[in-house]
Amino acid sequence: MTAIDEPGAVADPSLDGPAVGVIVVAAGSGTRLGAGIPKAFVSLAGSTVLEHALAPVFRLRDAVQVVVVVPADRVGEAETIGRRAAGKAADHLRVVVGGETRQSSVLAGLAALWPGVRTVLVHDAARALTPTEQFERVIDAAARTGWGVVPGLPVTDTIKRVDASDLVEQTVDRAALRAVQTPQAFPRDALIAAFRVAEDRLAAATDDAALYADAGHPVLTVAGSEAAFKITTPWDAQRAERLLADRDRGREREVGARPTSSIRTGIGVDVHAFADDGELSLAGLSWPGERPLAGHSDGDAVAHAIVDALLSAAGLGDIGSMFGTDDPRFAGASGEVFLRAAVERLHAAGFVVVNVAVQLVGNRPRFAPRRTEAEGVLSALVHGPVSIAATTTDALGFTGRGEGVTAIATALIERR
Ligand code: CTP
Ligand code: MG
Repeated sequence: MTAIDEPGAVADPSLDGPAVGVIVVAAGSGTRLGAGIPKAFVSLAGSTVLEHALAPVFRLRDAVQVVVVVPADRVGEAETIGRRAAGKAADHLRVVVGGETRQSSVLAGLAALWPGVRTVLVHDAARALTPTEQFERVIDAAARTGWGVVPGLPVTDTIKRVDASDLVEQTVDRAALRAVQTPQAFPRDALIAAFRVAEDRLAAATDDAALYADAGHPVLTVAGSEAAFKITTPWDAQRAERLLADRDRGREREVGARPTSSIRTGIGVDVHAFADDGELSLAGLSWPGERPLAGHSDGDAVAHAIVDALLSAAGLGDIGSMFGTDDPRFAGASGEVFLRAAVERLHAAGFVVVNVAVQLVGNRPRFAPRRTEAEGVLSALVHGPVSIAATTTDALGFTGRGEGVTAIATALIERR
């Protein structure tokens, strides 16, 4: 039995409201982009591709159900991203696990639609800059006609048909061609039926409309947009990032604000209690003879506060959402591991560190004698100057009683 045999299996009976469902497929590996992580989770101008892709969906005039389809090991991260994109409408969002092929990912999305959904839109997360108007156009045309609807652009290149030895056979009339994009809309039941037929034939369709049309249904094209291009290669990702920066600048011009500063500030706080056994790791240094700090990782409160300050400045979440505080891979991990990874993410998002300032609050260890050493180690890790001040709390509070330490960090970063 395949997933589409039980489309109502995951229904939420409390919410069969929206008549339109939007399946955002984001389960691909992004081989051609080559970022080493799935494409939808790559950062573009400070947010993931997936978050950019979801933003226009949650600006739609009428409520829709949103189903995000992701790789099995990214469900938690996708839920965090999805909730951020959805805001108060988070109850309209589901995250499900995709498959090996795009087609199987679409099937997984179809299986998660609520019973009330009559029209389904299938959208590539990789078309992250698709405007809300494109979704509206597709939804409106589908409602008006009851047909399949795909957005498309006229083809501007001259197209040749060639034979097996690359000899030109014919110039194709480009006036009759459209380069099609997503979201593609279909009546839900007819699309599911078309997928069933396709499964039997193991069809190798390159988009959902091809399967749907093969099943004998009409498909209408409406205007697509240049912005809805698919991010496939590093060049595309770079272009998308530039367009996002231009868009930000344009928005500010519209509201008459001052141009966006390329400077961002962030803050991070971390507290750890002292433990009984082991050696203290703090501010990237080992402190023989000092009581260690307890924690899932090495308890380096200074390093962790810096990580949070950097991530908050770049809008990349926090240490918990990025690394998973319970993730066994990070059990006992040194502060250095988190710092390196955070700085890598920051660079990938187009930022560099201007400076980091930390205040350490606690009775022990006596910090001053090793301040310069710690600043050197941390500065090398974040590729920018780190300064650390230390203070006590005059015997007040948990730090004053010597139960643990607090570290507060601020970070200033700049878009390259
Ligand atoms: N997709 C999916 N499940 C798959 C394959 C693709 O959900 N098994 C999604 C991708 O996440 C993307 C969209 O389908 O949003 C279009 O696919 P493509 O651009 O080819 O993305 P990838 O398959 O990730 O990239 P590549 O082919 O370079 O590996
Ligand atoms: Mg692919």
